[in-house]
Parts: sequence; structure tokens; C-alpha cells
Amino acid sequence: CSSLGIGLAGLGTVGSGVVLALERNAGLICDRTGGQVKLEVAKVLVRDPAKVRPVNLPAETITTSWRELVDDPAVDIVVELIGGTTDAFEIVAAALRAGKPVVTGNKALLAERGVELFALSKEFDTPIHFEAAVAGGIPIIKTVQESFIGNRIHSMTGIINGTSNYILERMTTAGLEFSAALSEAQALGYAEADPALDVNGWDAAHKAILLATLAYGFPIDPAKVHVAGIEQVRPIDIEFATRLGYVVKLLAVVREHPDGEVELRVQPSFIAKSHILASVHGVFNAVAVHGDAAGESLFYGRGAGQDPTASSVVADLVEAARSLRQATGHRGFLPYRDSGTLLPVDATET
Ligand code: NDP
Ligand code: HSE
Repeated sequence: CSSLGIGLAGLGTVGSGVVLALERNAGLICDRTGGQVKLEVAKVLVRDPAKVRPVNLPAETITTSWRELVDDPAVDIVVELIGGTTDAFEIVAAALRAGKPVVTGNKALLAERGVELFALSKEFDTPIHFEAAVAGGIPIIKTVQESFIGNRIHSMTGIINGTSNYILERMTTAGLEFSAALSEAQALGYAEADPALDVNGWDAAHKAILLATLAYGFPIDPAKVHVAGIEQVRPIDIEFATRLGYVVKLLAVVREHPDGEVELRVQPSFIAKSHILASVHGVFNAVAVHGDAAGESLFYGRGAGQDPTASSVVADLVEAARSLRQATGHRGFLPYRDSGTLLPVDATET
């Protein structure tokens, strides 16, 4: 299988997950891309090279200079997983200028500075892939951008911050204090490096901005989004909700009005216990997409955490690698094995 080099900026929760996923499934990816794609970690950017990590990489691959990573001739694709909007911006901009495709999970960066970065992407004819930026392991970006391309999208409504959903659930079912529940979410790798973004609603707002940009195609000014987070939710609110037959969820709503105006809002909301979104527990996310042709479809899965997010990053990496390979000829699916083993019918449990 022919190799492409990855420059991985960030080796924290998600970056380590990407290395582990590539180690685990390299053979599978090679087979499923018809022998076109083997992804090798060529360079890794960290802040602290001395830190103990869950992955072992050769010392010569580690750098603390993002410039060294982007400029390394062995790096074909740049993955930005450091977070924030300053150094991350420089890395992504430099990669695009160098004609190296970018994969990022950084919704804050794209929601706040996407206008500049998408302009560079266009100018240098180099793509930015960002499946991991919204709803962790749920393939919602490809769904809105590709699967719903033939739909006018009326609305997208859902739970798109795993940390808030986890905290609300732990406050409801285990009676935890807000700060104790947040500490758990941090320990599980769900929260942002700055967890204020999770609990003040802005992480969900950044994701809603990205979904709206995909659906409606124009830049969205974050200052025009109504954002309220869960930091004001108190145990008494949860108690009242429970007594009245509701649960409290942080809801993101993107909706096109009949006059073409687009509404974006993020706010804690009472959801009836019988509603399907009331059953979205813990770190899970769910997004209901309503298209004029498809009607309403619900997408559900793990919205944060190491492995689910790495799953989306790796999918983007394979897409970027395939486009670099500029595969010609047949572009649809083809079986990639001659045979496999099926469980005999009489051994199948019903
Ligand atoms: P972490 O804080 O766990 O990891 C960040 C990594 O980036 C660390 O390895 C850190 O180095 C490195 N880093 C940070 N700043 C710099 C810098 N200025 N220069 C060099 N290296 C730097 O973050 P996550 O892995 O959780 O998140 C990464 C990105 O993915 C963020 O944009 C986040 O929003 C997004 N994301 C996260 C999800 C999650 O569930 N965690 C889900 C979906 C998206 P060091 O280790 O040496 O400190
Ligand atoms: N902090 C984010 C969340 C990570 O909790 O949903 C996934 O984007």
C-alpha cells in the first residue's frame, strides 16, 4: 500500500486517538481504499515533549515548532488538533499556502476565523476537512454537505455538546454538583481545554455556525447568535423539570424562516420526557435534520471523546489522501475481498 505522511499538530486526547486508530486499522484502510492509502505519522507537534503519552512515537518525529511540521517534505497532509484560534490559525493557513490539505476538529477556529481560512482554501485550491468539528463520531458534516445536497434544509436541531449533556445527566441522575460533574467530563476527555466554552454554550454555538454555513452557504457572524449555556442551570431547575415531566437539555437550533432568514440559537431547554431527544444520554449527541425531500432524519452517536472523534479525523484523512492520489477510473464502491466467512444460519441466535 502506498504511503502518505501526516503532520499531526497536537497529541492530546484526539491526536493520540488518531495515532492509535491508524495503528489499529492501517491494514483495513489499505484494503478498503484498493491499496491506495497508507497513512504514516511523519511529524508531531506538541508543547511539552517530556510529557508521558499513551502512544509511542520515534523521538525524531516530535517537534515543538509548527513551522518545522508544516515545512517537512515528508508531510503531505496537516492535521490540526491543538485547539484555539491563534497558533491553530497559523498552522492551518501555512498548510493551505503550502498546498497541503488540512484536517481539523477545531470548530472554534472555523466558526471564528473560517472566512479567512476558506478564502485561503479557495486561493490555494487546497481543501479543509472538518468532520470531527461537529458531534464527534457522528458523520454529520458529510450528511449535510453531501447526503442532503438535493434538499432544501428547513432546520437542524439537536444536542451537540457532549460535556453539557453529560453534566446535566449526572446532576439529574446522580445528584452531583455542577463542578463535580464537570470534573468527571474533563477526566473522560470530553471537555475543551477551556471548559468555559462547553458550559457557556459557545462550543455548541460554534458547531451550529458550521452546520448553518454548510446548509445555507454564507458566513455567519458569531455575534448574531443567541447563546446561553448550562452554567446557570441549578439543581432546583432540574428538580422542577423532573416534577413536570421534562428533562433539561442544551439545545442548538438552526432554522430557515419562510422569508429566507436563518435563525441560530443555543439554550438550555425543557424537553418532554417522551421526546426522542430526552433519551440522548451522557456524552451522546443527536441532530435532527429536516430537509424538504428527505423529511426528518435523526443522527445519533458519541459526540466527544478520544475514539469517536478519531474516527471522524481518520475518515477525513482518508478522503484527503484519496484526493491527493487523484484516483482515476471507477469512483464508486467495489468489493475488496474475494471471500469471507459467514456464520452458518443454524448457529445464528435469534
Ligand atoms: P488536548 O488539550 O487534549 O490536546 C491538545 C494537544 O495540542 C496537546 O498535545 C498539546 O501539547 C498540543 N498543543 C496545544 N497548544 C499547542 C501549541 N500552541 N503548540 C504546540 N502544541 C500545542 O485537546 P483535544 O485533543 O481534546 O482537542 C483537540 C482539538 O479537537 C480541539 O480543537 C477540540 O475542540 C477538538 N475536539 C475535541 C474533542 C474531544 O472530545 N476532546 C471532540 C471533537 C473535537 P501537550 O500535550 O504537550 O500539552
Ligand atoms: N467539548 C466538546 C463536547 C468536544 O463536549 O461536545 C466535542 O466537540
